[in-house]
Amino acid sequence: MLYQPPLAPKYGRMSENDMVAAIWEHKRRLSHRLVILGHHYQQDEVIQFADFTGDSLKLSQIAAEQKDAEFVVFCGVHFMAESADILTSDRVKVILPDLSAGCSMADMAAIDQLEECWQDLTSMSDDLIVPITYVNSAASIKAFCGGHGGACCTSSNARKVLEWALNGATPETGSNRKVLFLPDQHLGRNTAYAMGWPLESMVVWDPAQPRGGLTTQQVRDATIILWKGHCSVHALFKPEQVDMIRGVDPGFKVLVHPECEWAVVQKADLVGSTEFIIRTIEASPAGSKWAVGTEIHLVHRLADRFAGQKNVRLLSGVQCLCTTMYRIDLKHLLWCLDELAAGRIVNQIRVDPETRTLARIALDRMLALKTAQPVGI
Ligand code: 13P
Ligand code: SF4
Repeated sequence: MLYQPPLAPKYGRMSENDMVAAIWEHKRRLSHRLVILGHHYQQDEVIQFADFTGDSLKLSQIAAEQKDAEFVVFCGVHFMAESADILTSDRVKVILPDLSAGCSMADMAAIDQLEECWQDLTSMSDDLIVPITYVNSAASIKAFCGGHGGACCTSSNARKVLEWALNGATPETGSNRKVLFLPDQHLGRNTAYAMGWPLESMVVWDPAQPRGGLTTQQVRDATIILWKGHCSVHALFKPEQVDMIRGVDPGFKVLVHPECEWAVVQKADLVGSTEFIIRTIEASPAGSKWAVGTEIHLVHRLADRFAGQKNVRLLSGVQCLCTTMYRIDLKHLLWCLDELAAGRIVNQIRVDPETRTLARIALDRMLALKTAQPVGI
């Protein structure tokens, strides 16, 4: 996690109203020079300032489209700001209001572990191996994938990317290719399973074990090699919660993010990215009931927005909070805008040129596989 220096004491003394007014004033003055992007997991107090909100795919696409802005303030987490820096021109400065806003899942795959894994896998199998990284990963991991014939994916397009990586192969045709999918084993497993690949065609590579904890035969027999990583927020959703909700009121439909474990996804009615979750509830008829398995801020916002029309609740009884997303708050947003107004750029996220070039290849391969609407897996 990067170090975020403490803010000046004045930010602790300001009232919320004063901070809100000051941020609006900065937005007005900086006008088209500034674009604020907000991921759906951000707090309401922050999301109100976003020029664009979205899931990871939508925000990547919007970042790539920024031609006029000088500053993109990314209210999200570090890997998202890195992707925005990679996808925008050198003229655009990408700023993350709090440097400690990382992602524990992204931290589960380090580049030296991936290099070691690759050496082992390529010595264990003669098949072509295509590395696919979820965008929730460091730029160095994306660069590795770009440089080794692979690509990125998001929860909105993982299926398309896997189909591309396997060159259209199906369980019926069989595949002479393998996919190494990282860092989220659940997104990889859920997506491949939804495409028809049986669980027996998948193995889990544990970077903490010699040779991933797998035998050569296990690697040879597998089509999908899943990295042992997960999201600690989505790990809080359990299949028993689905049973409990349905037991209490069978009218509830269960809608979850594909970072949830396979057993939860199997019991859910619908599965998809944050954007998919929003659009599904928006399009549902009045009176419908939804138990949603994703981060608490998004679920609360949907519950508030549709209060009195639709019943939206969290799938779990415990608060599923992404603590790193939560680090972006009014104080940090105001601080980075105060600094911009004073002509100083703070917390700029810069990916080095070599990493950037290769990571861009991986992101561009993904973006070329156009996904018009966020689809469930
Ligand atoms: P989405 O791309 O669905 O917004 O997911 C991002 C994320 O980090 C979910 O945990
Ligand atoms: Fe990372 Fe999970 Fe937070 Fe998403 S919800 S940013 S995957 S820790």
